[in-house]
Amino acid sequence: MSKTVLITGASSGIGLQLAKDYLAQGWSVFACGRNLDALNQLTDAYLYSFDVTDNQQVIDAANRCQQDLDKLGQLQFDLIILNAGNCEYITDARQFDAELFARVINVNLISMGYCLGAFLPKLKAYGHLALMSSSAIYLPFPQAEAYGASKVAIDYLGHTLRLDLAPHHIEVSVICPGFVKTPLTDKNQFDMPMRITAQQASSRIINGLHKKQYQIHFPKRFTWLLKMVSWLPRAWWQKLMASKSADVTIEGEQGS
Ligand SMILES: NC(=O)c1ccc[n+]([C@@H]2O[C@H](COP(=O)([O-])OP(=O)(O)OC[C@H]3O[C@@H](n4cnc5c(N)ncnc54)[C@H](OP(=O)(O)O)[C@@H]3O)[C@@H](O)[C@H]2O)c1
Repeated sequence: MSKTVLITGASSGIGLQLAKDYLAQGWSVFACGRNLDALNQLTDAYLYSFDVTDNQQVIDAANRCQQDLDKLGQLQFDLIILNAGNCEYITDARQFDAELFARVINVNLISMGYCLGAFLPKLKAYGHLALMSSSAIYLPFPQAEAYGASKVAIDYLGHTLRLDLAPHHIEVSVICPGFVKTPLTDKNQFDMPMRITAQQASSRIINGLHKKQYQIHFPKRFTWLLKMVSWLPRAWWQKLMASKSADVTIEGEQGS
């Protein structure tokens, strides 16, 4: 019997590539997103179109998943990857955009709570849960107040779930990519050092999950560089990152 994986944010970028790669490995893939036209390219996957920021839509989707799991003769998922998310930047901290802040926290973090509530009961004992965070957790990036805060919170969430799900024999991983070329980063107008492709990101994630790594971070030379800079005295890394602030120019508002 094939293994089962549920992936949110599977209509684009990293999630889409993960869905393609797991399908190629013979898994039964439950692919989620809002854009059904984009999901339709995953011809062999089970498709669920819903907004992760709407709790009722998430609950309804989880019920539809259960019906498809039953038809497949599977009771629960082997792997759940909560990957859906978005990035918007606070371009002027003095005119702090509270709506933008709420939007980013909502789509990246609050929605993860909705997905955990609806999908976690459908994960097998000895199953694996993966949460999409970011390498932004290692060092503050200019203008990433909302995005970085959401991703640091996801890292904490993963740490805590790891403690609380261990007695249930559920593995938890947190994924922390550097820059990956996707529609999300295509909007950025600033330099993105060591950016890798979605194919490279997907293969590193699948490999890390296979090895049951807790924190899956890549590309390593980028993430280790961030970690090492963060170990410097605060005044040093603050000066370094503040100098990057001037380089960051974002192409207008980045709505979802
Ligand atoms: N690209 C990077 O450099 C990078 C680095 C670190 C972490 N990440 C994280 O990786 C994840 C995927 O990013 P990506 O680069 O692959 O971006 P992407 O190509 O823009 O894909 C984002 C995915 O999230 C889904 N999504 C967004 N809002 C949603 C909503 N309200 N309801 C349901 N689905 C929603 C999108 O679905 P629809 O389009 O169908 O709505 C899409 O499938 C994000 O959590 C991001 O923060 C990315």
